[in-house]
Amino acid sequence: MRLLAAGLLLLGVAALSASCGVGQTGIAASGDVSQGKQLFVSRCGTCHRLADAGTNGTIGPDLDGAFAGAQAQQFRLSTIRQVVYDQIYHAADPMPRKLVTGADAEAVASYVASVAGTGAASHGAPPTVTGQTPGGGGGGLAATGGKLYESLGCSACHSLTGAKGTGPTFKGLYGSKVQLSNGQTVTADAGYLLQSILDPDKLIVKGYPKGIMSATIRPGSVSAAKAKALIAFIKSKK
Ligand code: HEC
Ligand code: HEC
Repeated sequence: MRLLAAGLLLLGVAALSASCGVGQTGIAASGDVSQGKQLFVSRCGTCHRLADAGTNGTIGPDLDGAFAGAQAQQFRLSTIRQVVYDQIYHAADPMPRKLVTGADAEAVASYVASVAGTGAASHGAPPTVTGQTPGGGGGGLAATGGKLYESLGCSACHSLTGAKGTGPTFKGLYGSKVQLSNGQTVTADAGYLLQSILDPDKLIVKGYPKGIMSATIRPGSVSAAKAKALIAFIKSKK
């Protein structure tokens, strides 16, 4: 069960940490990370496999698998960190909330973001990359995504009919070629869509202004699991 019913975000915290420009690499490189590793082993490892930590829990998702897609897409470290941090505060059963808080939660989030899915650890078994493609086309996941499309307000800007709105239509988006404002053309695969949802300002579709989507959908505010459901939904809109 990698679908998480993560709750709403600490938008305030997200905005705060973004605006005071905390040096992410500084945090990741400092003692916080080793403290985070210790905390992870003792508090999280019973339920989660993470190669770098040497933990093998199976109650929760394999965190290398969960973040491999995001790492491959070179998400900002801060985005992944935020996803982990939010998960700690807003986890749904059976994962207990607030196992660690404050600076400890930041340390754990920094640590997980710095190693999960990077393939950095040299422990034998390769991470299972299951997070990449949402739900193998499962109707349930797409249906969940359809509800999120309404409840998160994506429908205000993205039509399902092919009509251009404030944002591009979702009809036919999956697998199409998208021209970006930086002159590149990319294929709208799961990785691209994930990035567009988790970090809306990073890649901008040509002809649309930057900052419109991110003003409503803050970077990192949609959980990885919700994004996966949304992608399954988008994929179903051929
Ligand atoms: C009692 C078992 C348990 C413990 C302890 C636990 N988790 Fe979880 N975790 C889960 C389960 C089950 C899920 C999937 C369901 C959900 O999202 O709530 C999950 C989901 C996650 C996810 C989302 C993964 C994805 O696929 O997007 C992250 C990140 C995460 N946990 C991090 C942590 C961290 C960090 C800790 C320690 C502070 C921790 N977990 C402790 C059981 C646990
Ligand atoms: C306030 C309007 C607005 C809202 C709300 C919004 N978006 Fe967007 N979105 C945009 C705009 C404008 C763009 C094009 C500029 C860019 O690439 O950021 C865009 C781009 C995208 C893209 C890339 C589309 C393409 O053609 O390549 C995806 C995927 C996306 N949004 C998904 C979502 C999802 C999922 C939600 C809901 C969680 C959402 N958006 C909510 C305005 C919005």
